[in-house]
Amino acid sequence: MEILLDTANISLIKRFIKAIDLAGITTNPTIVKKEGKIDFFNHMKEIRQIIGKDAKLHVQAVGQTKDDFVKDARAIWDNVDPDVYVKIPTTEEGLAAIKTLKAEDKHITATGVYTEFQAYMAMANGADYIAPYYNRMRNMNIDAVAFIKNVADRIALEHSSSKILAASFHNVEEVNNAIRYGAQAVTMGPDIMASGLGMPAIGKAVDDFQADWESIYGEGSSIAALAK
Ligand code: G3P
Repeated sequence: MEILLDTANISLIKRFIKAIDLAGITTNPTIVKKEGKIDFFNHMKEIRQIIGKDAKLHVQAVGQTKDDFVKDARAIWDNVDPDVYVKIPTTEEGLAAIKTLKAEDKHITATGVYTEFQAYMAMANGADYIAPYYNRMRNMNIDAVAFIKNVADRIALEHSSSKILAASFHNVEEVNNAIRYGAQAVTMGPDIMASGLGMPAIGKAVDDFQADWESIYGEGSSIAALAK
């Protein structure tokens, strides 16, 4: 299972990488926009520095045509690093770009996926990751759970090297379901990560344990203090 963070915010990446063994970071133009007019290539390189060379950095190409996507992909590999997973929309033009770039054995994430059909076309082209937009699918009355199950089954049946990188989560239940039904990887915004770890009941359990301990050994005491 791979857990990624869907953000380009440096301080949030630094915060959550301390707690979670992140498999990587995903970005797209909407996520970049949240950071303002950043020095794009240097910002991506800074993210790479933080997450390390073994984690996966997914950066999205912009445009409409195969040529747009291929040019952006090459610019990303030349100016960030050659290990970046370039995200390319799963349109007819995007699939043409994916086909060309996979023939060169580049790292590709097929994004903007709403349907099983798109997923199967991306899989046929050898995309490394296929990124379904879980919450957006649900908003369109597309069964996101059925998508995950069916595509995961097909990946297993074909011994495909493609992985589902589920994205667009608006609550922790959606993340849980994506993992439960077979997504090999999930990427979530820092807000979802924070809400999943910040449940009041979790904090209360910790507070209660500390209070019980201190009621025995005194305020501010700890096990480590007993060992001194
Ligand atoms: O990675 C794609 C994801 O960021 C889309 O999320 O919330 O715009 O549907 P959202």
